[in-house]
Amino acid sequence: MDLYRGTISKRDRRAFLPQPIPEESLRRILQAGRMTPSSKNAEPNRFIVVRSPEGKQALADLSPMARWLADAAVVIVIAQVNEHPFDAGRCAQNMMLAAWNDGIGSCPAHLPEERVRELLGIPPEVFINRVIGFGYLDPERSGPPPAVARKRKPLEELVHEERW
Ligand SMILES: Cc1cc2nc3c(=O)[nH]c(=O)nc-3n(C[C@H](O)[C@H](O)[C@H](O)COP(=O)(O)O)c2cc1C
Repeated sequence: MDLYRGTISKRDRRAFLPQPIPEESLRRILQAGRMTPSSKNAEPNRFIVVRSPEGKQALADLSPMARWLADAAVVIVIAQVNEHPFDAGRCAQNMMLAAWNDGIGSCPAHLPEERVRELLGIPPEVFINRVIGFGYLDPERSGPPPAVARKRKPLEELVHEERW
């Protein structure tokens, strides 16, 4: 997939098919996370891979906005040994784009961190950045919900030339 096309066509999608993703794709997603550059190459990101139905359901139960996590083929939690939100964001998007390159959809979720910590046994000194669900998209339910249809502000509103 052309990198530009892949980048701008990647949507945050939540309607997954009940179908596992190949082991090789999961490995490529994790490799994309691993290879993400980081500030001073400190490599703060760690990955918790949740694939069991019970594990995914327990995460999905933590937020009414993330019930769809139960249907994901795999849920990956990005945790950081040093807190660095920029590095986590880059890592998250790299993994989601690597997945998209393999035809796998994804969506980040916001879950109550302390509940995630408890559930997954994440030590107190480790920061929880983001939970992401991955899976093949259900073509029957592939359209975005109208409330979050892909609206983006026009470039003219976002870009300043030379000065703010
Ligand atoms: C930090 C972050 C947290 C998010 N949390 C949730 C969530 O809890 N539940 C959900 O359904 N979508 C969540 N999303 C997805 C956003 O709703 C999505 O990025 C936005 O609607 C744009 O989607 P689009 O690219 O398909 O237009 C989250 C996105 C980000 C970046």
